[in-house]
Amino acid sequence: MNSFPASYKSELVKAGSRLFFNPALSESGELSCASCHVPSKYYQDGYEQALSIKRVLHRNTPSILNVNYYRSYFWDGRSDTLEEQVEGPLLSINELHSNEQLIRNVIESDEALKFLLTVCKCKDLSLVSIAIAEYMRDIATKESVYDVYVRGDYELSEEERKGKDLFFGKGGCTECHPPPSFTDNNFHRIGLYKRKIIIETIADPETPNRYVLGYDYGRGNIVGGANNLLAFRTPSLINSALTPPYMHDGSFTTMNQVIDFYDRGGDDSASGLEAKNFTRDEKMSLKKFLDLLVDVRYSKEVQNGN
Ligand code: HEC
Ligand code: HEC
Repeated sequence: MNSFPASYKSELVKAGSRLFFNPALSESGELSCASCHVPSKYYQDGYEQALSIKRVLHRNTPSILNVNYYRSYFWDGRSDTLEEQVEGPLLSINELHSNEQLIRNVIESDEALKFLLTVCKCKDLSLVSIAIAEYMRDIATKESVYDVYVRGDYELSEEERKGKDLFFGKGGCTECHPPPSFTDNNFHRIGLYKRKIIIETIADPETPNRYVLGYDYGRGNIVGGANNLLAFRTPSLINSALTPPYMHDGSFTTMNQVIDFYDRGGDDSASGLEAKNFTRDEKMSLKKFLDLLVDVRYSKEVQNGN
């Protein structure tokens, strides 16, 4: 994935951590990766749609604790590698809006980064992306309560077992959320209500409030073909019990709303999802099963939240 010998991993992780939390990389001096990927919120932000310095973005901030489970990044999968992904928020006008000079200054002020640059003999931007990517891989979830169950060291309650059977059986969830990652790394239109949103604000001093209304076509913005319109990458369900609001647009506030959505077969007939007609008990069991997919580091917090 990068040109560093494996022995540099821990140095890279440490340097990546400093970069992840450093607002000096941003044009405003106020924003870091951690502003939106907040450690105490499981590395997301809890907002429906992300809040930048000047505007609300039109997508929900995903938790980055799942990066090891993905083969492409962003809700539309537009980056193929984590290193390439990092350059997005780092340089985007909507996020840090960093530039060569800011990146240079940050490297100059950090002895370890200066040294790492001599090792990789790469560009400043590459070093920063490599280090931040290594940091994200390092903090990512390694084991969920479900994994502990699979290796035989956790016993399911009656309700959890019912929820598991529904998830794998009647619910049909594993078609797109198969274990162990609980994502098929593919793109689907699941039938969310199609909302017109502001997709672009035009910077024009003559008419300051000009904006473009439209739909977020998701994968359809990246790859042609009718199948890709309104399709989004299946999110891993690891830790999802802890990371509301849900979906690319943050349109569901609670897991109960997500389960109700699948129960009624979605809100748009183009999805092909069928209504499930879950009983009230079945919905509760399914939710209990999703609680098992949290990182063991956070499992106590789920129990306290219930
Ligand atoms: C203003 C809030 C904000 C800031 C600052 C921000 N992000 Fe994000 N991040 C988001 C949003 C929103 C998305 C989803 C965007 C999309 O899918 O188009 C995202 C997506 C990601 C993803 C993809 C996760 C996935 O499931 O595919 C990663 C990784 C990530 N950000 C890392 C970073 C890093 C590293 C930084 C700092 C350089 C950063 N973010 C700064 C809001 C933010
Ligand atoms: C046809 C594929 C498919 C099936 C079947 C499916 N999902 Fe999903 N799921 C997705 C996709 C794609 C998204 C993201 C959609 C979006 O944001 O536009 C998603 C989103 C979610 C989310 C939100 C996660 C987050 O972090 O925002 C949860 C929770 C979820 N699904 C649970 C389930 C459950 C439970 C079932 C079974 C009842 C199920 N899914 C069946 C594809 C599927």
